[in-house]
Amino acid sequence: MSLAGKSVLVTGGAGFIGSHLVDRIIQDAPANLVVVDNFFLGSESNLIEARRAFPALKVYRLDASDLAMMDQLVADEQIEVVFNLAVIPLPTSLLHPVWTINTNIGIALTFCEIARRGRIKTLVQCSSSEAYGTAMYIPMDEKHPLIPTTPYAASKSAGDEILLSYAETFGIDAVIVRPFNNFGPRQNWGSYAGIIPIVIQKIASGEPVEIYGDGEQTRDYIFVRDTVDAIVRVYEQESTRGKAINIATGCEISINKLVADILRNAGAADHPVIHAAERPGDVRRHCGDVGLAQQLIGFQPSPINDEKLRETIQWYVNHRHEA
Ligand SMILES: NC(=O)c1ccc[n+]([C@@H]2O[C@H](COP(=O)([O-])OP(=O)(O)OC[C@H]3O[C@@H](n4cnc5c(N)ncnc54)[C@H](O)[C@@H]3O)[C@@H](O)[C@H]2O)c1
Repeated sequence: MSLAGKSVLVTGGAGFIGSHLVDRIIQDAPANLVVVDNFFLGSESNLIEARRAFPALKVYRLDASDLAMMDQLVADEQIEVVFNLAVIPLPTSLLHPVWTINTNIGIALTFCEIARRGRIKTLVQCSSSEAYGTAMYIPMDEKHPLIPTTPYAASKSAGDEILLSYAETFGIDAVIVRPFNNFGPRQNWGSYAGIIPIVIQKIASGEPVEIYGDGEQTRDYIFVRDTVDAIVRVYEQESTRGKAINIATGCEISINKLVADILRNAGAADHPVIHAAERPGDVRRHCGDVGLAQQLIGFQPSPINDEKLRETIQWYVNHRHEA
């Protein structure tokens, strides 16, 4: 099963992972490629390369949780495949939990319902490892209980349950991809920034890097281009349907070690690092079991390394004027 010649929609396509997914889909020569993004965090600049490679790219500034509007759009654009990545991020859920939960659940439910109405053929829903909560065992496979610790995580977990219920009850052709922490170019700057852009900004401003808590919390960091490649392969493989599939590396790294690696690769190994209060709901350990992805799509995970870190750091250094 290939995306070649298909009409494809990516929600959240102007965001970090979504824009890389758009680039990846273009390589497969879709007939029509549509982005829906309300630009809460996404940016047009993330789509510059996509517009160059695929001038017919259509970008709609719309709310992906609006069922009536999305229903109309998929009909007008004759969409066959939806990659549903739009999301309100974790930090917002700590300040505006009701809005975050309503929106994220609305985004998931909208496309499940559109699939149930038979408007699209296939739905690939983007979940998050945050849905698991803190690891009860390592590595975490897809049978790990979902014990979300933040409103964001609860909204992602709820979206997954909705999809599984629609797949079971209505037989929609749908699959959940569950990425672990991503790094790479185009993650947003500002108050929702990822760890690499934050460290780059701190180096530039001469301020110390602040780590929440003791820094011994771990994450499974995967390079964004590896993630989007896996997402497309999940779509291609029909045996994935009705399942949730981890997209991870199977390796955990502590935040202390990650910050030290970023500083070393940025040529600022001696830059000061301080510790701040733990962030509410921060999960303690995360490391994904990738056995299912290996079995279903032949996924060969590749852990975070200096080469990928340097490429990412260089991108943020080159784009610091956009911060
Ligand atoms: N970044 C990570 O490390 C990570 C890890 C696991 C899972 N995920 C998941 O991957 C997906 C993409 O995340 P990301 O990191 O690229 O985030 P992002 O914030 O960069 O991208 C999300 C995009 O959705 C858009 N958006 C928000 N609300 C919207 C709405 N109502 N309608 C339309 N667009 C809307 C934003 O403007 C943004 O462009 C999400 O589903 C997220 O839960 C991300």
